[in-house]
Formats: sequence, C-alpha cells, structure tokens
Amino acid sequence: MSQSQHILTAVAWPYANGPRHIGHVSGFGVPSDVFSRYQRMAGNKVLMVSGTDEHGTPIQVQADKEGVTARELADRYNRVIAEDLTALGLSYDLFTRTTTLNHYAVVQEIFKGLYDNGYVFPRTTMGAISPSTGRTLPDRYIEGTCPICGYDGARGDQCDNCGNQLDPVDLINPKSRINGETPKFVETEHFMLDLPAFAGALGSYLQAKQGEWRPNVLKFALNLLGDLQPRAISRDLDWGVPIPLDGWRDRHDKRLYVWFDAVIGYLSASVEWARRSGDPDAWRQWWQNPDAQGYYFMGKDNIVFHAEIWPAILLGYNGEGARDGKPGSLGRLDLPSEVVSSEFLTMEGRKFSSSRQVVIYVRDFLSRYDADALRYYIAVAGPESQDTDFTWNDFVNRNNGELVAAWGNLVNRSISMAAKNFGAVPEAGELTDADRALLAASKAAFAPVGAELARSRFKNAASQAFDVVRDANRYLAEQEPWKLKGDPARQQSILHVALQVVDDVKTMLTPFLPTSSNKIHGMLGGEGVWSGMPEIREVGEEGGRDYPIITGDYTGAARWEHRPIAPGTPLAPPSPLFPKLDPKVVDDELGRMGGD
Ligand code: MF3
Ligand code: ZN
Repeated sequence: MSQSQHILTAVAWPYANGPRHIGHVSGFGVPSDVFSRYQRMAGNKVLMVSGTDEHGTPIQVQADKEGVTARELADRYNRVIAEDLTALGLSYDLFTRTTTLNHYAVVQEIFKGLYDNGYVFPRTTMGAISPSTGRTLPDRYIEGTCPICGYDGARGDQCDNCGNQLDPVDLINPKSRINGETPKFVETEHFMLDLPAFAGALGSYLQAKQGEWRPNVLKFALNLLGDLQPRAISRDLDWGVPIPLDGWRDRHDKRLYVWFDAVIGYLSASVEWARRSGDPDAWRQWWQNPDAQGYYFMGKDNIVFHAEIWPAILLGYNGEGARDGKPGSLGRLDLPSEVVSSEFLTMEGRKFSSSRQVVIYVRDFLSRYDADALRYYIAVAGPESQDTDFTWNDFVNRNNGELVAAWGNLVNRSISMAAKNFGAVPEAGELTDADRALLAASKAAFAPVGAELARSRFKNAASQAFDVVRDANRYLAEQEPWKLKGDPARQQSILHVALQVVDDVKTMLTPFLPTSSNKIHGMLGGEGVWSGMPEIREVGEEGGRDYPIITGDYTGAARWEHRPIAPGTPLAPPSPLFPKLDPKVVDDELGRMGGD
C-alpha cells in the first residue's frame, strides 16, 4: 500500500432552511461518506468537514415564511440537519455551521487577502428593488426565464436547469417571488471578485484535471471559462458576514454574498476542527501540503462555485492570478484536487418539490427503513454520473434482492450453519480447487474495489464486491454443506471458506454499510469498534453561542485488507441483518406522496 496521505473530504454545506431530503444526501452525503470511510480504511488521514449554510436569502426567504428571524430558523434546522446526517451515519470529523465567530473571522481574512492583492474591487451595479415597498429585492427573490437555456423557473442568482450563474437584470420577464411585481433596477454599490484575472490560472488548473475528474464535471467547468465576468460578492441584505473594510463594517444593509462565505467554510471548519483537536495548526496538513489531496462532494448545481469561484478565491488569496500578489496571513492555500459532483435524483419521475410533496425527507425515510438500506440504494442506484430516478419499487427490489437475498442470506446461513454444527469458526482441512478459487477471487477483489472507491466510482466498486457475494452463494449451492452431516471434515472446510469470504466482503462493504458491517464484525467474534459512527456533541465558542456539532472517533479496527479468520472463535446464531420489505410498502409510500 502507498504511504499514508492527508485527504480532505470537503462536503457541500446544506442550507439550514428546512429538513434535507434524499435527493440532497444522494448528492453530497452518502458519496462523501463512502469515500471517507474507504480512505480511512486504506490508512489515510482523512479530515471530513462541512456544516450548515446559514446566511443569505435562502434562509431569509424561509424565515419570513415561517414568521421567525433568520437566526431562529438557522438554529432550528441546523439541529434537525445535524441529527439527520448523524442518523445516516455520515462520519464528519466536524460538521459545524456558518454562523460561528470562527467562520466570520476566516471569511473576513480571506476577503481582506483578496482585497489587498487587488482581486476584489468596489463597483456601482444595478440592483433590484420592489417598487411597492422600496426595499431591495435580493437575487433569489427574483424569478424569470433563463437567458441562456430558456428555463422558466430561473432565479436571479442562478438557473437550476443549466447551472449557470445569472444576474437578475438579465432574466427575461423578471418577477418578484414575494408578490409577483416586476422589480425596478437602481444603482447600488458592491464588491466584485475579478474573475477575468484568473482566466489563465483557472485554465491551466482545469486542463491538468483532464482524465482525472468525471468528464461531465470537467466539461462543465471548462465551459465556464469561456465567459468570465467580475462577480458581485456582496449583497444588499442584513443577514450575513459583514464586509471587513472601514466604512462598510458597520453598515447593516450590506453583507458578503452567501456563496462567498459558504465555500470558505471548508477552510474555517478545518481551522475549527484543529482548534478543537488541541493543535490549532493541524489544519495546515490538509491545506498547505503538496502531498495532501482535497476532494469536494456536491450535487451538480454546485459545480460553478467549487470548480470556478472557490479556486478563484484561493488563487487570489495566494496571489496567483494575473495581478500576482502574495499570500495572506494564513499562508498559501491548496486548490481542490477534485470536484466530485453527482447529477440529479428525481422522485418517481418528478422533480423533488416540498411544496407539492414530491419529497422524502431523510428523517421520514429513516423512521421506516434502515440507514444502510438507504446508503446502499444511493451508492448503487444513485445519480453518480447521470440523472437518475428514485422509485419505491426499485428500492424495495434492491433491498430484498441484493441486501436480503444475496448478501444477508450469505452471511446468515454461513454463520448459522457453523454456529449450529460447531459453535465456532471451523478449521479448514485440505482445500479443493473450488475452495481455492473462491478464496482467491475474494482476496483479489480488495485491490480493484479499493481502486474504484478511491476514484469515487461507487457503482463499480459495489458491483465488484457483489460479484464475490454471487460467487460465494453459487459455491454454497454447489458444495451443499448442509448435506454433509456424514463428512464433518469436509463440512468444516466449506464453512471455513464461506466465513472467510463473509469476512472479506464485510470489509469491502464497510464504506457502504457501516452499521451492518459492524454487526458482522461482532458476529464473527471481532472485538471493539470496527468502523466508528458519528455523534452529536454540544460545544461552545469563546465569546459566542453554544451549538451542536457532528464529530466522532473513526479510528476503528477496519482496514482495507483481507484478514485470515481465526478457527476456534466462538460463534452464536446470528439475527437477520437486513429486514425484508413487504412489496406493499410501495403502494403505502406512493400514497404518501402528493399527486400532480
Ligand atoms: N448550501 C448550498 C446548497 O445547498 C451548498 C453550499 S456548498 C458550500 O446548494 F461550499 F458553498 F458551502
Ligand atoms: Zn438556464
């Protein structure tokens, strides 16, 4: 195995404006966790960070709707989201939030670095106001037709259909989302990020990713380079990080743009994690280390911010754009090694929509089904490289066919036969060709499955691990150990082989199925924690408020390697790992969904 590497897993920050649904966690959540668990098992030093994204109009709009302040809304959903992601088993080293003092300080430091290097400058632009109230109308409050792709529901800041960033002035038929009136555009002063100054640097950065990134992600990112315009990174809004310049700092009507502050969260969360770990400089090993790698996980509507804006911010802070400059006081910071983006998940053929009840919240899902079942479905049938439809029918079929009938059954009958007949892991006698072939295939799967996981090819990884499951089930069907009462020696050998393969496959499926793999570890006599699970902890901050974080000790025994099982280890009869679902839950679930 190669030397231990520092791996930053940077997971997109969910907006704290409502509970998250399974479409959200199929984009950023499950993929990033499968990846991180694998990397830890492979011996790498993983730092997995994220938090709730709590500023800007997405939060303000919902707060207005619920009749609470933005802060109250963010407090409520920060906790809900932290609980749901914990229940899904996502192994964040730190899941924090963007309303911490630490985050504000890091964001302001980055802004100042960009400003000092000349990559941020003020400019008078056109901003929308509501003619009836005279109040400014933030970009997201404006809806219209996308000037690029013609999509009807484009917002003033971004088109969710083609993913392009927009300026509200450019929308065709702009309308206020609050009361439907046509906004008036007036002059307002904002800070701009000088994206054109990074054209050269971004071009060489992205060109070097050819063959490494998922082709659709890279293509999208390269396309953006064709039209780089200065982007406003402040807004007419009172909810956000203040602009850290004299004359601006104390203004209540101007704040940094939510996307500018949110992407900096990857860095601020790393800094917070380091401080909490007792070594305040520890974050540098993931950010200022030529051997470190940073992988960013998200849904495709986030690509522009991670493959263009965030690298530009980092280049500017480092002084590596067309105007040169020097790194700010934190020192030079590494750019993302890979932007790993998923495509979209639809729901029974329709776009997720909470208002039309075309939605399954993570919390509701986990109240009826296990986390491993959802994780498995997302990993093998999720939108890894193309838009994908979630159907309850497919979910039930995969659960019953793959988890229950193929994998669960292999585990169950191998362990229960060995427990019943021998009470312990049996010794293998002389091996036959069939025994040797299966053992070799199982052992040989670690390398290719690991290689797929390291490249975030989750479907390929799972399918190769399941090839071993199928081989093992076929082996048992052919060897028929249950018929060998009169030949205990042969029966022992077969069950030894089966249990060894169960142990191997349990290791290979751990990134996908940590909860059930932990159970199998225990069933096979393993002690201690196999793959650590996240927990919520209440923390404080000097001068600030208390809040919940997700963290955990993930230094379990799980290693990405074949381990010979020890004959003589006591075995107890197992309980079923995965509940079989009654096909009628499909109709129950469809009934819960809203109609058209
Ligand atoms: N809150 C954004 C979304 O849900 C994602 C922010 S990712 C970050 O689409 F990096 F900017 F934080
Ligand atoms: Zn569009």
